[in-house]
Amino acid sequence: MAITKNTRSKTMKVVIAPEPGGPEALQIVEMETPTPSGREVLVEVKAAGVNRPDVMQRMGGYPPPPGASDVLGLEIAGEVIAVGSEASRFAVGDRVFGLVASGGYAEYAVIDERNALLAPAGVDWTAVGGIPETYFTVWTNMIQRGQLTKGEWVLIHGGSSGIGTTAIQIAKARGARVAITAGSAEKCQKCLDLGADVAINYKEEDFVEALTKATDGHGFDLCLDMVGGEYVNRNLAAAAPGGRLVQIALQAGPEATINVWQIMAKKLWFTGSTLRARSVEEKAEIANELEQELMPLWENGQCLPVIDSVYPFEEVVDAHRRMDAPHIGKVILSFEGDR
Ligand SMILES: NC(=O)c1ccc[n+]([C@@H]2O[C@H](COP(=O)([O-])OP(=O)(O)OC[C@H]3O[C@@H](n4cnc5c(N)ncnc54)[C@H](OP(=O)(O)O)[C@@H]3O)[C@@H](O)[C@H]2O)c1
Repeated sequence: MAITKNTRSKTMKVVIAPEPGGPEALQIVEMETPTPSGREVLVEVKAAGVNRPDVMQRMGGYPPPPGASDVLGLEIAGEVIAVGSEASRFAVGDRVFGLVASGGYAEYAVIDERNALLAPAGVDWTAVGGIPETYFTVWTNMIQRGQLTKGEWVLIHGGSSGIGTTAIQIAKARGARVAITAGSAEKCQKCLDLGADVAINYKEEDFVEALTKATDGHGFDLCLDMVGGEYVNRNLAAAAPGGRLVQIALQAGPEATINVWQIMAKKLWFTGSTLRARSVEEKAEIANELEQELMPLWENGQCLPVIDSVYPFEEVVDAHRRMDAPHIGKVILSFEGDR
């Protein structure tokens, strides 16, 4: 039996993409409001982040994992209004945020309490709603898998993206030296303002040459790559001896021709991962580390997401148009005006 704070509507507005397509493919429809079970809590959503994987799902290329609904959205922030029978971490009225495998673009969402955190005090809903997807992704790939340590050089492709702006801040907070690539002078400047040491406009410069020069011939110790395709072989060329390459997306395609000798000669490590399909337990491990390592920074107003723009929930089509246009940092859906 769930403990409930207030009477919530039996139905709620949600966003789906019944047919693959552009932003206009998104539709707001009514659906039954979920009831939390087991270790789930029901959250009245105040803000939900928009991420590139949502765009891929809209276009038909990133289906929800088995068991997840087809409502878009991977991250939420809001107030707990009901808790499942086995949930004990949060109470009704708590401000929380966290990861969902689907269902974030909705007035209400259920979330497993192990994948949620208490919202940092004093941080507004739009910033909190923009944390989970990129911070979980960057933490697990750059810190847990990539093992970035103080003083090392990390190369972050797509530095101005939601993921990139998060990675720059976490890397700097951990004392690393940061080089980024981005596709315009404005984007490069924003990354430098955020703390990057070197910004490479990949449309004007070859990133392998530029990085090699900027690091006095050293190259990167760790590369966080969301491009793939022909970048893979160039990444291998830009690596320092013992360098690590973590692949998090393949915007230029999944296939690459590489010179494997570079891996052998420089003793490189090449790995990668996806977040969405991981188990609740795996995501909970990341949540615990974020709580220990980053919560103190967030509560100090540091290392928070860079917000590009905020759209009312009803304007979700425009929010996706913004994702398809040049932007810097995160696009957020806000529900606060709706209530
Ligand atoms: N593995 C995971 O678990 C996981 C989880 C979340 C997200 N992701 C992936 O991470 C990526 C970023 O997500 P997001 O939500 O932050 O998206 P986003 O804000 O829309 O950013 C996409 C970025 O890709 C950059 N880009 C595209 N081609 C590039 C190139 N050739 N060189 C350098 N940058 C390039 C764009 O920068 P320019 O305009 O400068 O080209 C843009 O900043 C997406 O591909 C997403 O699928 C992976």
